[in-house]
Amino acid sequence: ELSPIDKAKFVAAKKAVEFVEDGMRVGLGTGSTAAWMVRCLGERVREEGLKIRGVPTSTRTASLAKEMGVEVVSLDAAKWLDVTIDGADEFDAELNLIKGGGGALLQEKIVATASDQMIVITDASKEVDTLGAFPLPVEVIPFGWQTTQALIEETLVSLDVLGRSASLRMNGESPYVTDEGNHILDLHLKRIGDARQTAMILNQMPGVVENGLFIDICDTVVIGYGDGKAQVRD
Ligand code: A5P
Repeated sequence: ELSPIDKAKFVAAKKAVEFVEDGMRVGLGTGSTAAWMVRCLGERVREEGLKIRGVPTSTRTASLAKEMGVEVVSLDAAKWLDVTIDGADEFDAELNLIKGGGGALLQEKIVATASDQMIVITDASKEVDTLGAFPLPVEVIPFGWQTTQALIEETLVSLDVLGRSASLRMNGESPYVTDEGNHILDLHLKRIGDARQTAMILNQMPGVVENGLFIDICDTVVIGYGDGKAQVRD
């Protein structure tokens, strides 16, 4: 028996997987909601003989996909994707997102951007008026990360944000390491007044590889509810 929140995630995943058709190349997101989507896709592959190629956004998702019988190919082999289905940490009315709570934002953004359509699957708790209550993940290269952190904190003063601190994401006693061998700084901004400007300025800084703001990338949000209903917004 699933908890209401897991039920909501499952329902959103199940609904989103209906958008996948035979022969499609599908970007596979990362996180607990995306994991439901990979299981649902695997079920369609087994039961309907659905033929798809999946491009995973993390090593975690790659192993789950293989386990579920979903064919895995690299992004460069697929070249372009019909659809990417992924979770998010926050979304707003314009379907702009914060992602990267699970640490996979870099591959997630590359894959989503290389897709005709990005569908986000979520429960209702992640909808916000203004992005930023969830700490914004920023992937930085390990070299000089403290200098990069200081530069980010100095720059935040000139941006339309409320909070100004950045913390290094940890994995126990050591810094968290992404699939690409980088670290993550979580920016506690509380409220991001201008998400587009924030994303642009962050990505211009040396040492910053990518940030978790997804602006104009998501086309559709599927919200699942604990009672089994799903709402599609686009
Ligand atoms: C992974 O890097 C993130 O972008 C996830 O998509 C996000 O954290 C959502 O994860 P959950 O579905 O587990 O909440």
